[in-house]
Amino acid sequence: MMMMNGSSKVMARRLVKQLSPRLFSTTSTILTVINEPATTINVGCGGLFESRTGGSMAEWMRMPGGVGVGVRYASTLALNKDDKVVKKQTTNGDAEKIETTETAIASYWGVGPSKITKEDGTEWKWHCFRPWETYQADTSIDLKKHHAPTTFLDKIAYWTVKSLRFPTDLFFQKRYGCRAMMLETVAAVPGMVGGMLLHCKSLRRFEHSGGWIKALLEEAENERMHLMTFMEVSNPRWYERALVITVQGVFFNAYFLAYMVSPKFAHRVVGYLEEEAIHSYTEFLKELDKGNIENVPAPAIAMDYWRLPPGSTLRDVVTVVRADEAHHRDVNHFASDIHYQGRELKEAPAPIGYH
Ligand SMILES: [Fe+2]
Ligand SMILES: [Fe+2]
Repeated sequence: MMMMNGSSKVMARRLVKQLSPRLFSTTSTILTVINEPATTINVGCGGLFESRTGGSMAEWMRMPGGVGVGVRYASTLALNKDDKVVKKQTTNGDAEKIETTETAIASYWGVGPSKITKEDGTEWKWHCFRPWETYQADTSIDLKKHHAPTTFLDKIAYWTVKSLRFPTDLFFQKRYGCRAMMLETVAAVPGMVGGMLLHCKSLRRFEHSGGWIKALLEEAENERMHLMTFMEVSNPRWYERALVITVQGVFFNAYFLAYMVSPKFAHRVVGYLEEEAIHSYTEFLKELDKGNIENVPAPAIAMDYWRLPPGSTLRDVVTVVRADEAHHRDVNHFASDIHYQGRELKEAPAPIGYH
């Protein structure tokens, strides 16, 4: 029998907790009811888009006692323990219909969720974002803009990103759905780290940030919504979740240190990362156009977040996500340029409002 000492047990417990966050944490008490067999469109990270029928073990994990725990939908809904979810997915290409019946929990604190409606008066169903956070992406943005690296620092930033592309290409190859999902877990880190550091700097120096804290946090949130969107059509496997944990541990700390030492360099790196993201999503679109990846209906979360018209597909989603990346590219190269001019970010008003 394998013996584990105390610290090994703690580490093993933490790993299991990380790998199955929704199974063992907040959603372990959610009662999920699947009324009828659902057709689930799933981008397996094995590489191909699969269409399959029925809630299988991969999609729904059964707890002892027959309680089903939603793996994906719990990520986009904030439900109370007494909430019931009736999950249906149409097969005709329309967005998923998620109906929630919430049992109100009396709150002494008066902070219960308020009912929010859309412009047309219908109820807003998302808890993870609100109608005023939705927008239409600027798909006319120039996708070809490139910052030519001329200084030594820029060249390091450029080649750092280029060198990261090699193992990424090797690992994912043409599995663009999986690649997008995994890379968004990285892309959502810099905005949060930069915003956090600017926040602390603002406090330390008793000065305004010029709106850059908000701009960078908006970027982080936007990237996280990219991830939430691709999660709706993907299903990461345990080793991919483990990889994300490892990469996050390394990248968060590396970017934190880089931003502390040289925000000029850090923003330039992100600018180049975004250029690579544009390239990846362009390749993704090519594969969709060739028919190598099935152009499935756009997930409901994407329809509402980007205010997509009815009938939108995965291609439309990838197009708006790519436009977002182009905007992040511009914002981060701009931020780096401000530093290059010997100025601080607060001296140039931040581009707030567009994600
Ligand atoms: Fe992104
Ligand atoms: Fe981005």
